Order: sequence, then C-alpha cells, then structure tokens
Amino acid sequence: EKVILAYSGGLDTTVIIPWLKENYNYDVICVCIDVGQGNELEGLEERATISGASRLYIEDVVDEFVDDFVIPCVQANSVYENKYLLGTSMARPIIAKRLVEIARKENATAICHGATGKGNDQVRFELAIKALAPDLKIIAPWRIWDISSREEEIEYCTSHGIHLPFSADNSYSRDRNLWHISHEGLELEDPAVAPNYDHLLVLSNSPEKAPEQGEVVTLTFEKGTPVTLNGEKMKASDIIAKLNEIGGKHGVGIIDIVENRVVGMKSRGVYETPGGTILMEAHTQLEELILDKDTLSAKKEIANRFANVVYEGKWFTPLREALQAFIESTQNYVTGEVKLKLYKGNIIKQGTTSPYSLYNESIASFTTGELYNHHDAEGFINLFGLSLKVRAMKQAEVEKN
Ligand code: ARG
Ligand code: SIN
Repeated sequence: EKVILAYSGGLDTTVIIPWLKENYNYDVICVCIDVGQGNELEGLEERATISGASRLYIEDVVDEFVDDFVIPCVQANSVYENKYLLGTSMARPIIAKRLVEIARKENATAICHGATGKGNDQVRFELAIKALAPDLKIIAPWRIWDISSREEEIEYCTSHGIHLPFSADNSYSRDRNLWHISHEGLELEDPAVAPNYDHLLVLSNSPEKAPEQGEVVTLTFEKGTPVTLNGEKMKASDIIAKLNEIGGKHGVGIIDIVENRVVGMKSRGVYETPGGTILMEAHTQLEELILDKDTLSAKKEIANRFANVVYEGKWFTPLREALQAFIESTQNYVTGEVKLKLYKGNIIKQGTTSPYSLYNESIASFTTGELYNHHDAEGFINLFGLSLKVRAMKQAEVEKN
C-alpha cells in the first residue's frame, strides 16, 4: 500500500519517512508542493531517496495558488483578527488538493502530513482532505509518536541508517510561500518580549533600517485583479514577487499579533507580508472610490466571515463558494490606478483614479453645484432626526409629571 507524504525536505518531514515504513510498512511517495516558499529544491530528490521514499513529486502550483486562492482573499480584503493576512491559511487548501490528486494517480490509500497536534494547519489539511477524498486515511505522526525535539528526530533518523546533515539548533517555526512568511516560537512565545527583528526578519528590513528615501509604486487593477506594476503588464504572481522586494526593502507589512487558533489557544506570531500588504491597501483604496456605501458595508461583513472561513480551513465548503460569489459580483467595476509611497514601514497615498469612481467633485466641493441643493438638507434632517426629537419630547413630558 502507498501513502502520500506532504514533504518539505526539512528534518520534521524527513523523519516521517522511516517512521511510516517501520510502523505501517507503506510505500512512501513524497510530494513537495511549491507555493513560492523559495526553498532549495535541489538535492531534494536525493534526500527523499536516502530517507527511504520510493518516489518524489515536486509540484509548482504558484500561479494556481495566486489566481484561485490569494486573489479571492485580496478581492475580499480578508484579514483575520484585524491583522493577519492569512498567508499560511490560504496555502493549505491548495496543498491538500494537490496531495489528493496525486493520491488518486498513485492509487494511494492514505495521506500523511507533518503538522503538530497543537496548531491550525492539521485542521486545514484534514478538513480539505475530508471534503475532497472522504475515503482516504489521514496520518498525523506528530499526534501519534513520542518524538518531541529536534535531537530526538535526528536520533531516530540516525538509528534508521539515515545520515543527513541536519543541525540540532533551534530556530523559529516558520512557514513561507509567495504571499508571506510566518514566525512563531523562541522569544515570541512570551508576549511581554519584543521580537528580535535582527534575527527574525527574512523578507524585510525593519523600518529603522529601511532607506531614508521613500519610493512610489503604481498599480492598476481590472475587475479587482492587479494587472500592471509601475506601468508594466505582469501576471499576478510576478506582481506579488516584485512588490515583496520593494515592500520588503521599505519595511512594509510586518505585523506582530497574539491570535486565537482554531484549537482554542492564543498564540503569538510575527508575519512579513510586504507585497500582500501593499496589494490589499491599493485594492481597498480603489473600492473606497468605486463601491457605493451599502455594498461596501455589506462587503466588510462578508470579508470578516470569509477570513474566518479561510482561517478555519473551511475552503472546500458551500459557504466559502457562496461568499466568494458575492465578493466576485462586487468586483465588476473595481478597475483603476493607485499610487502609493512606501516609506519606513508606512504606506502613504499618492492618488487614486478610476473610470468608475463615484466620487463627484461638483457634489463634494464646498462651492454650490447643480446636483446638490443646500436647502434639501433641511427637510432631510427633519425626517432623519424625527425619532430622536419625539423621544426627547416624551422624556421631557415624563419628567414633568
Ligand atoms: N498561525 C498562523 C496560521 O495559523 C501560521 C501558522 C504557521 N504554520 C507553520 N507550520 N509554521 O495561519
Ligand atoms: C503546527 O502546529 O504545525 C504549526 C502551527 C499551526 O498550525 O498553527
């Protein structure tokens, strides 16, 4: 029998290979899914083979990740608990989807992942697998074995004849893809302690170390999708990659949060989302001009709901599809150009234009225009304030008696 292992090449997933063979006698098929984590794919095949895997797939899904998972979240402006741009959450469903596809192709009977029993990722992987392939067995070694440290993992490998150059040093627990990198663990586990940005940051300069000179970027969107950056037409994944570079240089998009995990605990993490933060801000600014008040306010509620659905791993559900359909229908006129200046962690507006802008200068301007008659305001306020006035009159009457 065959098992599909979600494989990164790191120690945490490599140690699973001999463990699966020893405990289940499985043929282990490793699958490394490239969502833009930028890790060393070279030598991965050799490493998997040395560790006893019978096959390694390397799957580049970056564009599908961006088009089908990231962009819907951008269009929704979805942010979890006011801060987290959902980078890890949005990648888990596409990873699970590809694992299932390969499981079918290989006629495997099980899928194995390296997420711990304390986190969100186990929930996301497993909800997605259950939704797409209810018959597949799911194996989560971190909930089963009693290996509990890097040293023990190395020892397990060595005692099973696998000698690879893994170092025993402890680092942050990280997850990276094209959209972001997350950091948890070490000093971050104490919310009273400041993050050590000199050690921690991977994609960005800290704002203190960012250039003294700001930098302007120009983005255009068509129907809520980014299409050009600084005048150049690019696919969305290239726009994000380029924005990561520029935003990272200027220290944009670093956030530090204590968030509520699905499994009930609070957890402190730092996220770097340089390009994503710029993209979301630009998109939000366009919507400010284009969407009417009622749609904007309904969309805000939906965005919050969408963020929770994505965070909780409920991607492959009718609710996510319905929410996304609502969001998509609001994007028809979200077309236009946004200029932003990046400066030491800040994003400063430089002007927004759209052929569909509802902003009307002749109405908004202080000088009287044709569409807006000041006198109309009087009757409007009389009716708008009627219930307040009636209540105040009643109160005065009651107090007199
Ligand atoms: N707390 C974040 C989330 O739940 C990040 C998880 C990072 N995952 C990891 N395997 N290091 O989305
Ligand atoms: C893990 O526990 O595997 C990482 C953290 C998380 O999933 O929230």
